[in-house]
Amino acid sequence: MIRACIFDLDGVIVDTAKYHYQAWRRLAWHLEYEFTEEENEKLKGVSRTESLERLLDLAGVQISEKDKKKYCATKNSWYLQLVENMDGSEILPGVSEFLAQLKDRHIKIAIGSASKNARTILKRIGLIDAFEVIVDGEGVKKSKPDPEVFLRGAELMGTLPQETIVFEDSEKGLMAAKAGTFVAVGVGGENLADFADIVIPGFKGLEYPTLLESMHLAQV
Ligand code: BG6
Ligand code: MG
Repeated sequence: MIRACIFDLDGVIVDTAKYHYQAWRRLAWHLEYEFTEEENEKLKGVSRTESLERLLDLAGVQISEKDKKKYCATKNSWYLQLVENMDGSEILPGVSEFLAQLKDRHIKIAIGSASKNARTILKRIGLIDAFEVIVDGEGVKKSKPDPEVFLRGAELMGTLPQETIVFEDSEKGLMAAKAGTFVAVGVGGENLADFADIVIPGFKGLEYPTLLESMHLAQV
């Protein structure tokens, strides 16, 4: 019986995943490293500081703790420039309609994101009041694939992981959902199939009852 849904933000509600990639790639250029989209897949869902650590490993570069803080701030300022003019038109197709279906059925909804910019983005796209719970990068200690962000979301909504669907576009996020014993729906390509209970290409035209049926889950 499903009572709640937790949505990752970047790459699920809105296509900010591409802006994170652009900002990291720009930083990688400064390290004289060509950061590929494939490498970026492994960074999706990972916190800013851990992402930097992984990028430095890939580039084979060592820097001081002070410089790591500076690099994170620089990457974030580039990212914020990229999202500055975002508005509701960048909400991914079908998302608003799918959220409306959940509301009609009194299914609780939350955001479970690794991003410290989650609230800024949600405000820009006009969805800050759509979610009854928002757990973001400011509210958790452990980065995905640790399930902390989703467990906290479920706790705040008062639902059990088995009653809660997590929608995620990243391998790490889906691993976090499975580690927390949530129902894990991958949003994106078939490359996510190994990590998810089911994969959907996106929310366009998605009917909530059909989704549940395809996973043999009961409605409330
Ligand atoms: C995740 C993204 O949602 O948030 C990652 O998938 C990003 O790419 C992480 O690094 C942290 O985001 P922020 O906005 O706090 O730098
Ligand atoms: Mg994501």
